[in-house]
Amino acid sequence: MLQTFNEKNRDLIVNINGKLVHRDEAGVSPFDSAVQNGDAVWEGLRVYPQGIFKLQEHIDRLEKSAAMLQYAGVPDRSKILHEVYRTLSANNMQSDVHIRLTVSRGLKYTSGLDPRINTKGCSLIVLAEHKPPVYDKTGIRLITAVHRRPARCVLDQRIHSSNQLTSILAKLEANAADADDALMLDTRGYLAETNATHVFQVKDGVVETSTCNACPEGITRATVLDICRRNNIPCNERDIPHRELFEADELFCTGTMGELVHVLSLDNQPIGMGNQSESQPGPMLNRLNELFAREVEIGCTPLEELNAE
Ligand SMILES: Cc1ncc(COP(=O)(O)O)c(C=O)c1O
Repeated sequence: MLQTFNEKNRDLIVNINGKLVHRDEAGVSPFDSAVQNGDAVWEGLRVYPQGIFKLQEHIDRLEKSAAMLQYAGVPDRSKILHEVYRTLSANNMQSDVHIRLTVSRGLKYTSGLDPRINTKGCSLIVLAEHKPPVYDKTGIRLITAVHRRPARCVLDQRIHSSNQLTSILAKLEANAADADDALMLDTRGYLAETNATHVFQVKDGVVETSTCNACPEGITRATVLDICRRNNIPCNERDIPHRELFEADELFCTGTMGELVHVLSLDNQPIGMGNQSESQPGPMLNRLNELFAREVEIGCTPLEELNAE
């Protein structure tokens, strides 16, 4: 899956610390921690015609990530939402938009690693792009990456950080294998996620996904689990051995960037033993997609509410 350039994004206005500038003129200081150390946290949000999906949950996760990294001077929620609103307004955006919201540790007064040389508070970057869900709804093909997701004692994946090198190494593997994305295991050999999405399997009517030991606490993941619980669909979070995935009736990925998409094959082995016809989601994912669409109807914050204060 290779994203292509969307002409609608040619003249985007982006927001850097409250300044609205053309994408070609935007600049982040070389002293910013995002540039120096990849020391930033981010959220990907999706704008539907009804508004931004699960907005408060995304801001909660952003604040949690920033707190785990002990950031000082994080802009407060109303300031963040106001800047998101200004950015969407400047671009006249209403729906089919993906927002990448970044908070970095901010400017350093000299190059270096030590957070004590950050004395100016956090930087806030809002990038909103015209971007419908990125995955082809006819399904995706995964390969298993050699690179693994680190354990919490190495780098806690609940910190949703802009340092995405493990994901990029895995994605390079997927590209080399001509696959859409790479499945990533944790260091013990259990399912973690892909380079960019969470992974669910369906076996004998039970929907299962990994624990969050080696993946972020995904908002779409939580929505799917919640949908299952409210609709009496059996579901589990557990350590899933790699080999089990090949025997799943259905396999699918979740994320804000691409919503819910089924996996056609893993390491070139078709998933579903013929239950899932080529290019069509299986019956469970069809049901979950319907329920997810209903969730979008009720789970969005209208854009005007962002500018309430
Ligand atoms: C590594 C990783 N996995 C999974 C996801 C999907 O999470 P969400 O459903 O919150 O978009 C993301 C999204 O940002 C991610 O960065």
